[in-house]
Amino acid sequence: MVERVRSGVEGLDRLVEGGFLKGDVILLAGNTGSGKTIFSTHFICRGATEQGEKGVFATFEENAETLKRNMLRFGFDMEKLERKGSIKVLDLEAIKGSGMSANIDFILNALKEMEAKRLVIDSLTAFLSACQVKFEYRMLMHLFYKILKKIDCTSIMTCSIPTGLDTLGLGIEEFIADSVITLESTVREGQLKTRFLIRKMRGTNHSRKYHEVVIAKNGLKIVPFSMM
Ligand SMILES: Nc1ncnc2c1ncn2[C@@H]1O[C@H](COP(=O)(O)OP(=O)(O)O)[C@@H](O)[C@H]1O
Ligand SMILES: [Mg+2]
Repeated sequence: MVERVRSGVEGLDRLVEGGFLKGDVILLAGNTGSGKTIFSTHFICRGATEQGEKGVFATFEENAETLKRNMLRFGFDMEKLERKGSIKVLDLEAIKGSGMSANIDFILNALKEMEAKRLVIDSLTAFLSACQVKFEYRMLMHLFYKILKKIDCTSIMTCSIPTGLDTLGLGIEEFIADSVITLESTVREGQLKTRFLIRKMRGTNHSRKYHEVVIAKNGLKIVPFSMM
């Protein structure tokens, strides 16, 4: 029996046979403002509160304080969950100068210490920018991916949407992405709309349709496209 991990995002699990596969790495690609950080917060916070799975949220783009303030608007009290030891927010901006392998060590230590089963890296683009040498970062990511699998840690890594979606432009997606999900924002009829698509999910008979992303008071949800 394969083990499925609930995503914590309303409307999503039913599109992917009940959830992500345990230990998978999911690349979440999207434009700026498309909801990547909110989506990732659902995964970590609901994982802790509803599934009893501890999680680590490594933030590179927003500092921990801003992230917590913004997510509190949706009812996610990250500060409180941190105090309880259910989640940990790693503010990696602070150690950006120390390079990618130090960041990987830092994350793995936090996962190990907490026995966490969920990880978010927001964003992978910023995370990789700590390493200038492409050859080195491919090697490090390969190793990192293998360790995450070994410890059964399900991970979401966000990245900016590139033009032409055949590749995410990272140079590592062919071996680290068990799944690729995109959030695409466009202006239609004078309104900003975001659509959701599962482009790939290994081992899963997933939805192949576009769905709509709705961000409201209590966070982000995926709804059928026909309701747009
Ligand atoms: N309190 C809120 N209520 C409704 N929508 C919000 C709220 N806060 C943020 N948003 C929407 O979410 C977007 C930011 O989502 P975020 O997950 O940070 O995007 P990304 O990480 O992809 O850049 C904002 O641009 C806005 O459209
Ligand atoms: Mg973000």
